Amino acid sequence: MKKKIAFFDTKPYDKRSFDSTVGIEEYEIEYFETRLTERSMALTKGFDIVCAFVNDEITAPVIDQLYANGIRLIAMRCAGYNNVDVCHALDKIRIVRVPAYSPHAVAEHALALLMTLNRKIHRAHLRTRDSNFSIVGLVGMDMYGKTVGVIGAGKIGRIMVDILCGLGMDVLVYDKYQDKAWAESKGVRYTELSEIYEKAQVISLHCPLTDESHHLINKESIAQMRDGVMIINTSRGPLIDTKALIKGLKSGKIGAAGLDVYEEEADYFFEDYSEEIVTDDVLARLLTFNNVVVTSHQAFLTEEALANISGTTLKNINTFYAGEHGANEICGNCDAGSCVRHTKRTA
Ligand code: NAI
Repeated sequence: MKKKIAFFDTKPYDKRSFDSTVGIEEYEIEYFETRLTERSMALTKGFDIVCAFVNDEITAPVIDQLYANGIRLIAMRCAGYNNVDVCHALDKIRIVRVPAYSPHAVAEHALALLMTLNRKIHRAHLRTRDSNFSIVGLVGMDMYGKTVGVIGAGKIGRIMVDILCGLGMDVLVYDKYQDKAWAESKGVRYTELSEIYEKAQVISLHCPLTDESHHLINKESIAQMRDGVMIINTSRGPLIDTKALIKGLKSGKIGAAGLDVYEEEADYFFEDYSEEIVTDDVLARLLTFNNVVVTSHQAFLTEEALANISGTTLKNINTFYAGEHGANEICGNCDAGSCVRHTKRTA
């Protein structure tokens, strides 16, 4: 009997990518368009595995219901797992993830946001489409020689550092854990957040969302930043207190914001609301600024990343059925981040 996978929050590109993954035919997948929440959790009855994504809500009650329905594995097809109550799942359901599907895709998207905002490409595009060939108001700055702060130098942050070094920028790095040999090899310097806030003209966020990093960018941190600072967030929405960001944008303290993620994105992102009214006033306000570019959590969306997501998810599931604890397993006993210690804990 084939094991059955309940696949939530399906988009056409997910289905295309998973269906073409060699070896997936060993499993039976049912694709649900709905997200996994307390309202939809009953759908998992009769399945063995749940495959979920960034905006599924895998809370304690969802985990209990999944467990009662016989689910023993949640295969996250993403890197972040802040939407999973990992501790509650401990010793009930095992959780695996795809730690890196394409760090290049995300870093390159962060660069796209940065460059779009700096050279005002989004505004220039609208103008020339309307036969307005004026360049008044489109002055940018050379990135060469400017100071940039990268917060979180893991897989994505490090690629971002390479890109920014390539632009000739002076790169300051903050990470909770320092790898001095890496920093030295790249000619970049670890520092405290306070120095990044004080000196950086651009700040790019690449750390995970944890209790500690929640609202890292807030009223107080914004007050310490340089006037006109550009903030890029391709990591997780709640790293930024959006209301504080809006205040900063209104006062001119923040010169530009490139956001691929948003605090309340689960209500809107990935769906087409073009025929409806956006009732989220914070999001609506954000969209009115001509120095803000919002993309709807698409930084990962490249062919290469999709192929890695489906391939790694399949490997993770196979590892589970081989009775092993792979390196992509998340352990509720460990700090958020890259957990490869599950086998040690259970040993
Ligand atoms: P990673 O785990 O390789 O690196 C994260 C880094 O952040 C680590 O070096 C860690 O030490 C550091 N860190 C942890 N807590 C911190 C804190 N409080 N302050 C500063 N640094 C801290 O993760 P990776 O692959 O680089 O991904 C980073 C984030 O990017 C993910 O957590 C995820 O939220 C986001 N992401 C967004 C995607 C998108 O499509 N927009 C796609 C994939 C990931």
